[in-house]
Amino acid sequence: MRVLAVRAAFIMGVLTGGKSLMRVLGIESSCDETGVAVYDTHHGLLAHRLFSQVKMHAEYGGVVPELASRDHIRRVLPLIREVLAAAEMTLAEIDGVAYTAGPGLIGALMTGAAVARSLALGLGVPALGVHHMEGHLMAPLLEDNAPKLPFVALLVSGGHSLLVDVPQLGDYRVLGESVDDAAGEAFDKTAKLLGLAYPGGPLLAQLAEQGDPTAYRFPRPMTDRPGCDFSFSGLKTFSLNTWQKSAQTQQDKANIARAFEDAVVDTVFIKCRRALEQSGRNTLVVAGGVGANKRLRLRLQDLEAEVCFPRLEFCTDNGAMIAYAGAMRLQAGQMDQAAIQPRPRWPLTELEPIAG
Ligand code: KG4
Ligand code: ZN
Repeated sequence: MRVLAVRAAFIMGVLTGGKSLMRVLGIESSCDETGVAVYDTHHGLLAHRLFSQVKMHAEYGGVVPELASRDHIRRVLPLIREVLAAAEMTLAEIDGVAYTAGPGLIGALMTGAAVARSLALGLGVPALGVHHMEGHLMAPLLEDNAPKLPFVALLVSGGHSLLVDVPQLGDYRVLGESVDDAAGEAFDKTAKLLGLAYPGGPLLAQLAEQGDPTAYRFPRPMTDRPGCDFSFSGLKTFSLNTWQKSAQTQQDKANIARAFEDAVVDTVFIKCRRALEQSGRNTLVVAGGVGANKRLRLRLQDLEAEVCFPRLEFCTDNGAMIAYAGAMRLQAGQMDQAAIQPRPRWPLTELEPIAG
């Protein structure tokens, strides 16, 4: 089978100069969402499905890794069947399988990797482990008004906050990153200390809608220093101290949520403007869960640059971005070696460029 897969990829590459048409099954299972999709390099996204484990973890106030892995096992095969049915195709029509190989929770990653690699082996097609953040970075490319390279990418998720210069897909030069909490993590932790349920980010944003923007002004961390690094953990402490000193009414809570959100949004705006100036790019691509934040989306429109977002459902984790990123790399002839090696930690800068 292995020989078959290698031969198929090799022949496809040779016949088409590395640009064969492919239908790629993508599987995302890095954290608390099982996502599956089929991307066709000729016709675009054919189908995608997502199962979110949010309700299951909410009871514990955060993601329980072992429960996450077990739930991925339960969901992934039914989702694959659903996606294939929606795409009106059979497994035999799949030309490659992409899955999230990292970063993420090891057990959750192992589940997706084992399913993807077994399927690929059984079908005699190549498999490829995709970097989760490269998936996020490429999500805006699934849209009709896809941004043109080169661009700067703002990746703001639960685990990462990065500003990356992207001269070409696969060539990622980090301009700035969080020195402590990721933006989403800061949203979640602040929400938790304000007594909001998990996942806190969207709930905090919702609460902020009722807040008075003039009630408090929180600092814009690290904006007085050169560079594009972020630091969000101080805002969490600032929120807690402000809450403890307040009369602790529901309105105080909303005011703090608003002050926190405004501080994050403004800080991210300032750093994005700096990253664009520094790199000389005039396109900004925004991705990752916090990219779903309405106030952030609105504020970034003030940049003197073209700003591109994925649709809301592709800001947060999904299978479509993994199918797409996998398709770009598989089409260029890249594929996994024999060993299955999920990488819970995996710097984006270690990725190979995408040739062709
Ligand atoms: O990209 P993602 O789905 O998963 C990771 O790869 O981490 O991002 C999830 C993060 C969570 O921290 C969540 O609270 C945050 O994105 N998030 C938001 C919003 N929607 C999701 N944060 C602020 N405002 C939102 N509307
Ligand atoms: Zn993510």
